[in-house]
Amino acid sequence: MFDLPDDEILPLSKEHVFWTWSAQAKVAPIPIKSAKGVFFWDTSGKRYLDFNSMTMCVNIGHGDERVIEAMVAQARELPYAAPGMATKVRAVASQLVAQVSPGGKLTKVLFTLGGADANENAIKLARGYTGRFKVLSRYRSYHGASAGAMALTGDPRRVAWEPGLMPGVVHFLDPYRYRSTFHRTTPDISEAEFCQDYLNHLEEIIRFEGPETIAAILIESVTGTNGIIVPPEGYLQGVRKLCDRYGIVMVTDEVMSGFGRTGKWFAVDNWGVIPDIMTMAKGLTSAYAPLGAVAMKPEIAAAFDQRTFESGLTYTSHPVSLAAAVANINVMRADKLVEHAAELGPVLNRLLKDLGETHPSVGDVRSIGLFGILELVKDRKTKEPLAPWNGSSPEMAAFRKTCLEHGLYVYTHWHTVLIIPPLPITTEQLQEGFAVLDQALEETDKAVK
Ligand SMILES: Cc1ncc(COP(=O)(O)O)c(C=O)c1O
Repeated sequence: MFDLPDDEILPLSKEHVFWTWSAQAKVAPIPIKSAKGVFFWDTSGKRYLDFNSMTMCVNIGHGDERVIEAMVAQARELPYAAPGMATKVRAVASQLVAQVSPGGKLTKVLFTLGGADANENAIKLARGYTGRFKVLSRYRSYHGASAGAMALTGDPRRVAWEPGLMPGVVHFLDPYRYRSTFHRTTPDISEAEFCQDYLNHLEEIIRFEGPETIAAILIESVTGTNGIIVPPEGYLQGVRKLCDRYGIVMVTDEVMSGFGRTGKWFAVDNWGVIPDIMTMAKGLTSAYAPLGAVAMKPEIAAAFDQRTFESGLTYTSHPVSLAAAVANINVMRADKLVEHAAELGPVLNRLLKDLGETHPSVGDVRSIGLFGILELVKDRKTKEPLAPWNGSSPEMAAFRKTCLEHGLYVYTHWHTVLIIPPLPITTEQLQEGFAVLDQALEETDKAVK
């Protein structure tokens, strides 16, 4: 399509591209050429099995013609409309999002460009609705890279930009069983007690901060990058109750965990919880076009019936992105991808556990649906991570290098390996990827004391 030989992609990119999340002199990008299903190919023709759905976002898999055709048709008919205009695709897309939302109850939808601005808008809505200012979010979380979403983020990506982020955010601890702050000496505590301790911790923070000052509690329903932390039974229900008790808006960030990833349309559906506001992006279009959304209960929207919602985006409800979303949701329904992710959940979990049984560097494994993680340690007893908090290690680097050499694309985060493949993946393809992981773990096993 462009007049540039393949072997000039890398040098030209290195000359002109400014890379995100990177030290510019250290980037080593894969020159990607094409992608189909669960695979992509680089310019040398090498095939990679995509175990991270690119950026945890290509939920339906690569190169689906049904989505591409819908985008092309929309671009031909009407590529753009002003934010205040009503379009067919906007009406249909918002209806579809409302239909698949938890209990079908989040019936008003504001479209954004991605996940960060979805969270920013969720906060504005919650503040406007309650007349309160503070927001509680968790330490092991990522909510986006704009100033407000960064303030919500608990992980070190926030710390890098402090001070100067959005004021009013207070962080609390995650119900992370493997490294539970409260249970170092009582690791065998029951799930119910474990859950209650973390709800008590949250309630104490609500009381200390003053419930009348708190607009929202904003959490990832199942934590993504920071560890695939699956909440214990009763936790999300407990957060819901606390929000109801204190008049706080419950916002769940389903940017990564939504659209079939956990074997349900949204992760909250695993526990039958209906938040007041839910944010989404990534799997909403499976990244065929940029799009985020804030779905809300009608009473939240009604707070702005007479008052102006003082916010907007030039590209809100971009018709081509919405066409991608509509086609994407239709593909998920037609191909029963949510059901497929639920079916393959136990297969992924078994494969993860098998690695845990053979490799001493595997400290813990967790998964729900097709959302999994390997947590690597130097010592299973002390749980010393194989790379430091917010750092890397030669063993983790060697692990990733081995995976890539063998054509497996995985995302490693500090001492963890995330397994987040496109939802149409088969058992055989999962096994193919796990055979490479098995080999690569020999590198990390070398670090075990
Ligand atoms: C849970 C979660 N929320 C928000 C975001 C931010 O989304 P975006 O990069 O589209 O702004 C991400 C991105 O990875 C995410 O994982």
